[in-house]
Amino acid sequence: MSVPIPFGIAVTPFPKRAPDQEVAQNVDAVLAAEPQGWRASQQRYLMPNYQRHPQAFVRGEGPFLFDTAGRRYLDFTSGIGVTALGHAHPAVTAAIAAQAQRVLHTSNHYEIPLQAEAARLLSTTATGGQVLFVNSGTEANEAAIKLARRYHYTQGYPQRTEILSFYNGFHGRTLGSLAATAQPKLQEGFGPMPADFRYADYNDTTSFDQACSARTAAVLIELIQGEGGVVVAQREFVQHVAQRCRQNGWLLIVDEVQTGVGRTGSWWAYQQYGIEPDVITCAKAMGNGVPVGAVIARPEVAAAFVPGTHGSTFGGNPLAMAAVIATLQTIQRENLVAHVLQAGEQLGSALQRIAQAHSTVTEVRGRGLMWGMAFQRPVASLIEALAQQGLLALAAGQGDVLRFLPPLIIDEEAITAATKALDAALTALQW
Ligand SMILES: Cc1ncc(COP(=O)(O)O)c(C=O)c1O
Repeated sequence: MSVPIPFGIAVTPFPKRAPDQEVAQNVDAVLAAEPQGWRASQQRYLMPNYQRHPQAFVRGEGPFLFDTAGRRYLDFTSGIGVTALGHAHPAVTAAIAAQAQRVLHTSNHYEIPLQAEAARLLSTTATGGQVLFVNSGTEANEAAIKLARRYHYTQGYPQRTEILSFYNGFHGRTLGSLAATAQPKLQEGFGPMPADFRYADYNDTTSFDQACSARTAAVLIELIQGEGGVVVAQREFVQHVAQRCRQNGWLLIVDEVQTGVGRTGSWWAYQQYGIEPDVITCAKAMGNGVPVGAVIARPEVAAAFVPGTHGSTFGGNPLAMAAVIATLQTIQRENLVAHVLQAGEQLGSALQRIAQAHSTVTEVRGRGLMWGMAFQRPVASLIEALAQQGLLALAAGQGDVLRFLPPLIIDEEAITAATKALDAALTALQW
């Protein structure tokens, strides 16, 4: 039977379906099963590119994760800087659940009201630039690299194709971003790298000046090298780079994939350096765990991406946009950026105090809630010892830096508990 509807072709309405109990039960069954079962599948069916810790988390709540045995862990990794609002934040959960019941995906062939709103929210925390949504950090950098080349091409400088980045940096694993990731161990075996990527030493103006050329298109920089070991850029160095970019018409692309969305105590790390980037790349925390990334560019630069030049099937889909809106609004409403400054002060000074008591610590560095503690030795056994006590932490650098990226909602009590656990573990290890 066909029913006329107010607009559109006459068809029978698609019947509304009840929630699928069987599928839900199957998912529950996987999570409730003995680990041997899924571990065998993990070994057999997953590619071996990750070295995983032997913990499987099945539930989270705020700064805590719970493993299959119900053990509770304090998560100072935030899934590598992603879950800024903590796990299962009610605002994000409600937003994505509601959106899942409306529509998940339509494609960028159509207007997406939530994309416009997410772009407005994101842009007004930053430079006021125009936004392109993608799905990850590497994709954001990939798009920024393309945008830089295309921008110079449209300005009548097609020879400007070189992307200058810094040793020890990290910009992602796809070929363009990997070519900008000046770490031989990460590029090894994947050559040849795309052409026209040049590198300079971080925090070294002479090395930077030498790497620039008449063919430079853009400089791509992290203001804190996160994966590289939480190495903080010096203000004078960054200002020198920004000034040279401005004088020469090179684009300054700041990779805020890890430092962005409040992590360092300002919405964006660049805001602490007295500079104005042409392009910002971001991802990680902006969806609180729903995969999403973005490029924010000055409108004159963004203009280079005319229809047909760049795109993404998933980029900016309604599900991801609901997560972005909920995440950004919650950070604003709960004044979390100011909270990060305060909490970061507590965490940073506690780590400095601990460092004084343990001779294998060589340096403590960071900003806001992004901290690294460098050691004279690999930190793998320390991370294992901390996990045994219920504290999750990351490694960085050459495996010799302990990295803490707690959620932005972390409170005083949790920071005290975590730093006590670290002090105790270092004492037990006789470090
Ligand atoms: C600064 C920076 N840029 C880019 C990336 C790549 O992001 P993704 O893993 O989402 O591709 C990362 C990931 O750690 C990062 O820290």
